[in-house]
This record gives sequence, structure tokens and C-alpha cells, in this order.
Amino acid sequence: MIKKILLILIIFSVCLPNTFLGAQEHFDTDSIPSLKTLAEARGKYIGTAVDIRSLKYDPECSQVLADQFNVITPANALKFDATEPGRNIFSFKDADAILNFATIHNMKMRGHTLVWYLQIPSWLAKGKHSKEDLKEILHNHIKSVVGRYKGKIYSWDVVNEAFQSNGTLRRNVWLNNIGAEYIELAFRWAHEADPNALLFYNEDGIEMRNKKSDAVYELIKKLKAKGVPIDGIGFEGHFDLAPEGTMKNMAANIKRFAELGLETDFTEVDVTLAENILRKKFYKIIPNGKNILDALIQKKILLDISLTKVRLRYHINNIENAVRNIAGEDFDKVWAILKQSYINSPTINKEKKLEKQAKIFNDVCTVCLNNPSCKIIIFWGFTDKHSWLRRFHNDDAPLILDQQYHPKPAYYKIIKAFQNKESN
Ligand code: XIL
Repeated sequence: MIKKILLILIIFSVCLPNTFLGAQEHFDTDSIPSLKTLAEARGKYIGTAVDIRSLKYDPECSQVLADQFNVITPANALKFDATEPGRNIFSFKDADAILNFATIHNMKMRGHTLVWYLQIPSWLAKGKHSKEDLKEILHNHIKSVVGRYKGKIYSWDVVNEAFQSNGTLRRNVWLNNIGAEYIELAFRWAHEADPNALLFYNEDGIEMRNKKSDAVYELIKKLKAKGVPIDGIGFEGHFDLAPEGTMKNMAANIKRFAELGLETDFTEVDVTLAENILRKKFYKIIPNGKNILDALIQKKILLDISLTKVRLRYHINNIENAVRNIAGEDFDKVWAILKQSYINSPTINKEKKLEKQAKIFNDVCTVCLNNPSCKIIIFWGFTDKHSWLRRFHNDDAPLILDQQYHPKPAYYKIIKAFQNKESN
């Protein structure tokens, strides 16, 4: 009888925890060293982007943020549309609130971002401005925003995503009106406003050697030679499950930037599980595919991430009419490809995808750990609950904690990388 009871007890304790743990295993900071403790032990900082809403209204989010990280990047609060909603009318409410949180919790704050082609206010995007006027607008913006946070924000993404994947400068309000010189001017003005802040050029899709990273490299080399104050390069690190190069490639690429005397940080790391729509699919299935694809990107319905991959910019339910207008008689085929990409997102083989994702997070940390010029790794959020990528695929899961704040395989792999148990 006793044996029987013992057996039942054993079965009970082996089988049940998994079902119960869901509720208990919310991020438990007591049993595992925090990410920041592990990072500090290796001489690195570890940070995350955060949006004002999650910080204000999700207590679990602010708790984990304060416990685990020692750097914050406001995800939106310092962008042009947030800080200068009317010409020379500034608003710093959200950025101040985030800075306040950072200060209370002894965290550093990065400034993101002064000059970008997205999230600019409509008075600027729609207004007609002469070259001199636009220079004045940019100068005033940088002087006011950087000046306000002088000595408080320790580093700035001065210019963000100025290049296209083919290595040419992106046509945007700055390039079109001021010319390529806007990049150099922005750095000089930021330096004037806070000579001690570290100034970064931040870019997407340049982790590996490719046309874009070559172009960025050449530009920064040229600017450094001219004495333009650039201190660092931000590799955003928005990966998917099939990065376009090996870790070796990434390490070598980062090294060449380090040799220019730059700090080389990861600034926006996340790893989407959504499968991308390959350009090839468009080309193969639809004779007019290239034109349709270009139009979809130009009309900003799709987001051109790199030469080979295209992502949905909005939730698929919101783009049907726009796609129908552009695709015309090819609508059914185009729509099938888009839907396919959508359906292929997360649920299939999720376990496997999470393992792959974990490996990529581990790789990024390992590359940073092996490079003295890499001082900081920033994730673009930490819980899937608040990831910006869920607006494209609601069931995407690109971060290290799930929507209930349970640690994912990626989290454990990061711990291992920092504990040096699994350096590649
Ligand atoms: C994203 C924010 O996270 C979203 O909330 C916003 O709607 C769009 O921008 N590269 C960047 C970041 O440099 O500023 C972007 O942040 C993500 C891509």
C-alpha cells in the first residue's frame, strides 16, 4: 500500500509541474542571475527598447526591465514626430518619463533617433521647404533635442537607415532637399550640442558583408577621414530564421568597422519567426511580378527589408484592397503568395523555430562577447507581448520572453553565451 502511494506521489510530481509551471514560472529573478549581472561580469551592457505605454501600464514589464537590463532605448519617444510635432514646438513628456525611469533604476539611456526617413511629422513631410530652410529645421531640431538631454543621454543614433539594400542612399526628405551632406551636418550639429555624447550611425541589414554594409563602411570611412565626429556603428540586428550569412561573416564584418575606430554595438536585436516572402516567388509565379512588387513597396504596402526578402508592413487584413488595386488581374496570385507567407508564420514547427531563434540570439551575444569594440547589446523589446513585429504577424514571437513573460529557449541560450558555456 505504502509503495502504491509513493508511486502515485512520484507520478504526480513528475507529470504535474509542467501544467502548473505556466502560472508560477513567470519571470523568476531569484533563481537565475539577471542578464545585467551576467553582462557586467563580461564587461558588457545589456539593454532593451521600451515604449512608453508598456512602461506606464504594464507593471510586469517595468519590473522585468528594471531587474534585467542596464540600458534603455526609447522605441518611439525620441523620434522626430514625437519630439517636434509642430515646427519649433517641442514635446518631451514621454522621453522624460522614460529617462526618469532609467535614472531611478540606475540605467543608461540611448537616444533614438535624430534623422530618419520614417516617423517624421506631417508639417515636415508635407511642407515645401527650401534647402536652407530644411537645414535650419534639422539644425534646430538636433540642437534642441540633444541640448535638452546633454549629459543625460549618453549616446545618440544620429542618423538612422540612410541606405537602401542596393547600397545607394535612400531618397527621403533629407537627401532630396539637402543632399548627401545632411549626414555629415547631422553629426557635426549633434556634437556641437553635446560634445560628450557618443554619436552613432544606425542601420538595418548590415550585420553581414553585403552591398549595404559595404556602402555604409565606405561612407563612414570617408567621413571619419574628414574629421566628422562619428563614434559608433549600430547594427540593428532584426534577423529572421535564415540570416544571409554565417557568424564568421558577421564577426569579420564587425571587425572591419571596429578597425575604423568605431564602437560596434547591436542596437535593435529581435528574431522574427515569420517566414518571408521571397522575391523569387513573385518573379517565378507572376510574369509582371517585379513591377507589382516594386509598386507594393513604393506605395509602402510592403516593407523592403533586403534584396531577397520582403515583409508585410501591416496586418494582412488591412491591405487587401490596396493590393487588389495594384495587382489588377494578377491579384489572386499575388494574394496567394502574401497569404502563404502569413499562414507560414509561427505555428508550424514552433519548437524547432524557437531553437533556431535561440541559436541566433546566442550567436549575436557571442560575436559581441568576442569583440572588444562591441560594448552593448540592445534587444528591440524583451517580451513577445509588446513586440512591434506582432503588428505584421499577430502570432509572431521574436523576443526572449513569451507573451506571459515565460523565458523562451533564446533566453536560456543568452545566459549560456554570457556564462561562456556555449561560445561558437
Ligand atoms: C519601430 C517601433 O518599435 C514601432 O513601435 C514603430 O511603430 C515603428 O518603428 N528600425 C528602427 C526602429 O530603427 O526605430 C523601428 O522601431 C524598428 C526598425
